[in-house]
Amino acid sequence: MTVQQETVKTPEIRKGLAGVVVDYTAVSKVNPETNSLLYRGYPVQELAAKCSFEQVAYLLWNGELPNDRELAALVAVERAGRALASDVKTVIDSLPTTAHPMDVCRTAASVLGARHKLAEDSTPEANMKKAIDLWAAMPAVVAYDQRRRHGQDVIEPRDDLGYSANFLWMTFGEDPADDVVEAFNVSMILYAEHSFNASTFTARVVTSTLADLHSAVTAAIGALKGPLHGGANEAVMHTFDEIGIRGEETLEEAATRAHAWMEDALAQKKKVMGFGHRVYKHGDSRVPTMKAALDKMIAHYGRPELLGLYNGLEQAMDSAKSIKPNLDYPAGPTYHLMGFDTPTFTPIFVASRITGWTAHIMEQLSDNSLIRPLSEYNGHKQRSM
Ligand code: COA
Repeated sequence: MTVQQETVKTPEIRKGLAGVVVDYTAVSKVNPETNSLLYRGYPVQELAAKCSFEQVAYLLWNGELPNDRELAALVAVERAGRALASDVKTVIDSLPTTAHPMDVCRTAASVLGARHKLAEDSTPEANMKKAIDLWAAMPAVVAYDQRRRHGQDVIEPRDDLGYSANFLWMTFGEDPADDVVEAFNVSMILYAEHSFNASTFTARVVTSTLADLHSAVTAAIGALKGPLHGGANEAVMHTFDEIGIRGEETLEEAATRAHAWMEDALAQKKKVMGFGHRVYKHGDSRVPTMKAALDKMIAHYGRPELLGLYNGLEQAMDSAKSIKPNLDYPAGPTYHLMGFDTPTFTPIFVASRITGWTAHIMEQLSDNSLIRPLSEYNGHKQRSM
């Protein structure tokens, strides 16, 4: 090839970076061929069945599951950091109750960074401490924001409860039932990490500039808000609401209506949230575990009509386009049944994903290179005024 030919060659552009491998990671492995997801080598289904969210958080940060002493040390720091600080509460109270909970959550993450005593320290030790503190503090933010929208006050955390049970306690002020805690714990584990998704990549881009951990997480929260990413769990519930949740309906009646709704939506070329995935093309590895948790919640709350809506949409999408549900599809109605407001769903995802994001932030820093891709210019040729 001559030099002249080389200069006119159009570079290959991979829109959305689809299929582009940008770096190594040891945090998690998504394998779409085998529909599997490993956190630090462990199948996520096994972690969801056998571990607390605290154990999984430790695993993501440290690469190994904790022994009893290590777990106790993490739990002690987490419990010490659970209360909503009065200055953070003041900032939340300054926001209108109409603000989207993801905006509240993003603002709180930023404030928690600005007031952290290690704010400008990005050593591995400081970052680990900041990651744990942020993870510990987020449930109070999410819970209080939901409560204030209902005119309710802050509920103080309880030291006798694990992360998931305390999250539910701070939101609802009632002792949560064991199977509800279990389903919530499963969701927190499944949402914790998923390799180079849009928000994690955002966190890594920000980190690659050597900005601090809270800046990276704040940016990641922004990326997660979109309905093509984390915002889909909220959007799933809007779909259910649009179809109409009718408590008196049987499973079959609800399924028939949902089926018809989906056929109509697809005929109008609508994208239906909670279905499809950039990486998984034959089903999301996390869905069966989350669906089992949803089934338990449907039985616990006695709401078969929700299962009807779920089945009707899923079957209609499968027969029309063979597109499978993603994790957000069973997670949305699960959180609805537990009593969370629909806009609170994605902030719950934030509280969970803080673990994965910060594990990636620390990994990025351990072998950093500024992330700065190129673009191909297709604007005006050079011109003068
Ligand atoms: N509803 C209807 N059609 C869908 C769909 C959905 N949820 N997801 C994908 N498709 C269709 C597209 O319309 C497209 O069809 P076409 O080839 O006839 O135009 C085809 O499937 C490929 O979709 P595309 O958006 O190009 O795939 P992608 O890999 O870029 O997108 C998502 C992946 C996740 C962005 C996409 O599936 C989506 O928008 N899903 C809904 C949002 C969601 O649930 N996000 C959470 C992800 S965990």
